[in-house]
Amino acid sequence: MSRKIAIFDTTLRDGEQSPGCSMNTEEKLVIARQLLRLHVDAIEAGFPVSSPGDFESVRRIAELVGDSASVVALSRAVDGDIDAAAEALRGAQRPRIHTGLGVSTSHMRDKLRISPDECVERAAHCVRYARNLCDDVQFYAEDAGRSDYAFLARVVQAAIDAGATVVNIPDTTGFSLPEEFGARIAYLMEHVDGIDDVTLSVHCHNDLGLATALSLAGVAAGATQVECTINGLGERAGNTAMEEVVMGIRVHGDALGVHTDVDARGFAMASRLVSSVTGMVVQPNKAIVGANAFAHSSGIHQDGVLKDRSTYEIIDPREVGAGASRIVLTARSGHSALKQRLSDLGYTFDDETMSVLYRRFLEIADHKKEVYDEDLESLVNENAREV
Ligand code: KIV
Ligand code: ZN
Repeated sequence: MSRKIAIFDTTLRDGEQSPGCSMNTEEKLVIARQLLRLHVDAIEAGFPVSSPGDFESVRRIAELVGDSASVVALSRAVDGDIDAAAEALRGAQRPRIHTGLGVSTSHMRDKLRISPDECVERAAHCVRYARNLCDDVQFYAEDAGRSDYAFLARVVQAAIDAGATVVNIPDTTGFSLPEEFGARIAYLMEHVDGIDDVTLSVHCHNDLGLATALSLAGVAAGATQVECTINGLGERAGNTAMEEVVMGIRVHGDALGVHTDVDARGFAMASRLVSSVTGMVVQPNKAIVGANAFAHSSGIHQDGVLKDRSTYEIIDPREVGAGASRIVLTARSGHSALKQRLSDLGYTFDDETMSVLYRRFLEIADHKKEVYDEDLESLVNENAREV
């Protein structure tokens, strides 16, 4: 039977931590509406104790979402943070408090300045404290990707014993390699009692460009929730991109035995919306939502796609709301792509004329990055005058 992977969106929390991407309440609400259209399972709306504005954002999103998704508020392992999170979530039908602390040597020794024993004690305390205020408590083991396996298992065990309903294993610094991160999740599955009874989440950053691969490795090893953002927004090099991990699961779901409930047809729109609200441009070659994700430029590829789309496309662009595949005419384009585009524009020519037009097309293309329909109209008119 296929295992459902819950999709936890953190565009409005970790995503807005991207430099220059902070959002006000109205902007967050617009994005939250689009996240609901995607049918995500959980929306992390913000970090209420961090500012009155963010508190208000979480409060308004909690009201907006109703029972369509869990609404999550972040807090450190600090009682006052947890109180603020619970208060901001008061109007939510499915509230979840997300609390935790660093578990790597670097975080315990150099940031928190606590011993490993204190870390375990604080993990248990923050979960217990949050459980008194909310039935759904997610514990995060920050920098788990660089932590000692056995120690991580000890902290996770303490969090579960204290009542955590979700355990989040972040690769906060994007340090891991996929195989190793998968092994870490498998280790927890084997060594933590009761882990099968909670949601096991992965939260991977993209510092080595591996966030999606890490998340999928986590899923293959048994994780049941993936944390991600639209366009992969997030601290430094960003988080796992939702559109990538969801489509990865769709393309390989049968082999992995997993699925999500996300409606991928809203991805292109969500990507444009997040880009325009945050001002963060999407790179053209970005997987799934980049302008070139379904564009074909070389003659060999164009010839294949014109015969059968699946020769060079593993996803139908309509599945992600991206319209149709695009044949881009360049100096690398072949005869068949030119013929097809001319036919789309209403022109058909015999083979001899096509050969003349193709030669002339290449002369133009060698001087341009892309040959547009207006260039083709001129080409056709010029040819008509010459015959
Ligand atoms: O990257 C991280 O560890 C986080 C936690 C707060 C979940 O964003
Ligand atoms: Zn993060």
